[in-house]
Amino acid sequence: MEKIIDENKQGTSLKLTAKPENNKKLFIESYGCQMNFSDSEIVASILQNEGFNTTSHIEEADLVLVNTCSIRDKAEQTVRNRLKKYNAVKRQNPTMKVGVLGCMAERLKSKFLEEEKIVDLVVGPDAYKDLPHLIAEVEDGRNAVNVILSKEETYADVAPVRLNSNGVTAFVSITRGCDNMCTFCVVPFTRGRERSRDPQSIVDEINDLWKKGYKEVTLLGQNVDSYLWYGGGLKKDFEKASDLQKATATDFAGLLKLCATAQPKMRFRFSTSNPQDMSLDVIKTMAKHENICNYIHLPVQSGSNRILKAMNRQHTREDYFELIDNIKQFIPDCAISHDMISGFPTETEEDHKDTLSLMNYVKYSFGYMFAYSERPGTLAERKLEDDIPEETKKRRLQEVVALQQQHSLERSQEFLGQTVEVLIEKTSKKSNAEWAGRTPQNTMVVFPKEHYAVGDFVLVKIDDCTSATLKGKAIEYSKNN
Ligand code: SAH
Ligand code: F3S
Repeated sequence: MEKIIDENKQGTSLKLTAKPENNKKLFIESYGCQMNFSDSEIVASILQNEGFNTTSHIEEADLVLVNTCSIRDKAEQTVRNRLKKYNAVKRQNPTMKVGVLGCMAERLKSKFLEEEKIVDLVVGPDAYKDLPHLIAEVEDGRNAVNVILSKEETYADVAPVRLNSNGVTAFVSITRGCDNMCTFCVVPFTRGRERSRDPQSIVDEINDLWKKGYKEVTLLGQNVDSYLWYGGGLKKDFEKASDLQKATATDFAGLLKLCATAQPKMRFRFSTSNPQDMSLDVIKTMAKHENICNYIHLPVQSGSNRILKAMNRQHTREDYFELIDNIKQFIPDCAISHDMISGFPTETEEDHKDTLSLMNYVKYSFGYMFAYSERPGTLAERKLEDDIPEETKKRRLQEVVALQQQHSLERSQEFLGQTVEVLIEKTSKKSNAEWAGRTPQNTMVVFPKEHYAVGDFVLVKIDDCTSATLKGKAIEYSKNN
């Protein structure tokens, strides 16, 4: 997911359209992956029906919620530091209640109440519909915890309130949970087993977004390619489904086709893909529908077969290359990005070199790169010693990052002289006189505003670039407006 939003920089507070009759104030902020940001929109919607409007001023909040991330230790530390800051606010506003949502809530459960005295409320990712009841408990002066994981919950019936929106791009969640059990990863423990959302409710949400003027949707899940709707229930129980359910099931390629044809002028993206689950059918569906963006986020984690095995990844380096070759064959201009972990237990210099050589083969457009962080309760934590010294992890990570930077620049340079389609999202951060938007390949483009507006699809001739951004001049509207 362009995806991991840097835990250090990004706690974003959110604002939404107010219901005038509401008299309570909610301050909600999110850390971590796009799914958390999307979940906060669901939470805001549930609480809007309970008398809460959001505020961007924490000092005036009746309720402060923080949607948390457990993926690396640093992410958790960021949240704990944030909770310390809330203490100062609470001194000024003693009736303010504080709740934690998301992965840390699920991981720490009621321990959170002991460890962080400011916390009144702990709610896991599948329990948000219980918030009205839990908040009532808290308002009565009791602490409240619900961290029950669900087989069914997809929040299909909650219409998210779009928070901090540019009015052009939106997230729509399609699956929850992950069954993969990568040995380093805490997500299967915090987000539970995989389940998919009713395709009709997804298409309805997309149609509604289109009516409201949105032009691009990113379908979200921990493992979108594993999407499978057969009437509800866990992915792992599909085998027990009836013949009729099996015959009428919708897989990810089917869902993509449904979305792309329901709104042929809407752009579609998706995140995240797991190499083992990405089918040729999905690649062919992408190739066939012009409005499915030619961009795949395809985490690999390591280039070494030995490490991939220790990570319990269900693919080898060779399988991954085959997938990349298929993508390039059917979608020659497809951009590909990755997630990579440096310093997984037992990683040798040889393994690290395998990672660099894999990167040289693929030459990714972007990457999200991390030093291994041991997570409590994961298989790696229980079975393997975290034996790579911190400075070795950092040095290897630095080499991976430097190589990626070089590849990103080369990929950007390929666009020089070309004309690309850009969906205008916002004013450029660097200049008020310029728009920023993305190509289908997900590269950021900036160009002079002229008479164009947010939400327009524009053709831009590229004449300059950095590793992260293309620069150019708009030529005309794209036919896709
Ligand atoms: N499939 C998920 C992956 C979530 S975690 C998705 O929706 O993207 C995102 C990335 O964080 C992983 O791909 C991995 O590269 C990284 N990561 C996960 N656990 C980690 C750990 N213990 N240490 C370092 N990086 C980790
Ligand atoms: Fe984590 Fe692997 Fe799933 S990285 S989210 S267990 S695919």
